Amino acid sequence: MSRIFTQVQKKGLQSTPENGIIIDTADVCEKKKKGQLPMKKPILTGEEYFEKIIEGGYFYVDKTLFIKELLENKGTVTLITRPRRFGKTLNMSTLRHFFDVNRDSKVLFNGLKIMEHSEIIEKHMNKYPVVSLTLKNVELSGYKNSIDRIKGLISEIYQEKLYLIESLNEFQKKDFFRYCSKEATEDELQSALKFLTICLHAYHQKRVIVLLDEYDTPITNALTEGYYPQMIKFMRGFLGSAFKGNDYLEFGVMTGVHRIVWKRWKRNKKRVETSTSFFTELISAL
Ligand SMILES: Nc1ncnc2c1ncn2[C@@H]1O[C@H](COP(=O)(O)OP(=O)(O)O)[C@@H](O)[C@H]1O
Ligand SMILES: [Mg+2]
Repeated sequence: MSRIFTQVQKKGLQSTPENGIIIDTADVCEKKKKGQLPMKKPILTGEEYFEKIIEGGYFYVDKTLFIKELLENKGTVTLITRPRRFGKTLNMSTLRHFFDVNRDSKVLFNGLKIMEHSEIIEKHMNKYPVVSLTLKNVELSGYKNSIDRIKGLISEIYQEKLYLIESLNEFQKKDFFRYCSKEATEDELQSALKFLTICLHAYHQKRVIVLLDEYDTPITNALTEGYYPQMIKFMRGFLGSAFKGNDYLEFGVMTGVHRIVWKRWKRNKKRVETSTSFFTELISAL
């Protein structure tokens, strides 16, 4: 998307505020030169955080109605698979700002389409504890390195939520600190997201929204690096504990790269099975 926007900037094209569709207005450049056009919003490229885009006054195609769509079609887990640069991370950031009980997002969303739905704002805006995690940097050469990276990410999100400690019992506190200090074993790490939803629920008395960006990066990387079986096993536990049968989960959203169609020859080699998703095996575990 940013590439398109850069082209828009260079060529002096315009986009409609309603739908973001790019329109080539032939005389834009000419008018621009003559100073006959109003100042247009600058476009922020390579930046995916909703707050910075809005507060910095950067160009934003209003996609906030997907919050309404998500609430209407809410399953326990929504998986969004789209190609890179599609706006997935920015959307996740938008969700985090919208739902997070620890923020006050009214000003940030002021003037955006979702604000026209007062019942949604009243019922859902800043009403949920949110866990937000991206696995985008978990692409290392060995299985152990990847697990250590995940331990590091988990430690970061636990440390962000140290305020939860006061509502935990002594046993829970001990476990909480093990995640903070990266001491958790691999088995314990598989339960990290689930345990965090338990802690958040204990404090806020509300079920938790879990946002997981690039859930598939560790697995894609494991495939090329040769440790796919270990990683898929780990991820099944890691995602399964958070998203499957978790009573403390309000709902989850996971994003990943576009669906990769792959072909697996059956034993008799007569039939080619085509999976719509690369990670059918994983998803079926959820
Ligand atoms: N609704 C939007 N309005 C303006 N810029 C956007 C929008 N969605 C995405 N972008 C920009 O497009 C680029 C790619 O978005 P990103 O969320 O990183 O995509 P993905 O996570 O799918 O790879 C970023 O620079 C981001 O700021
Ligand atoms: Mg992204």
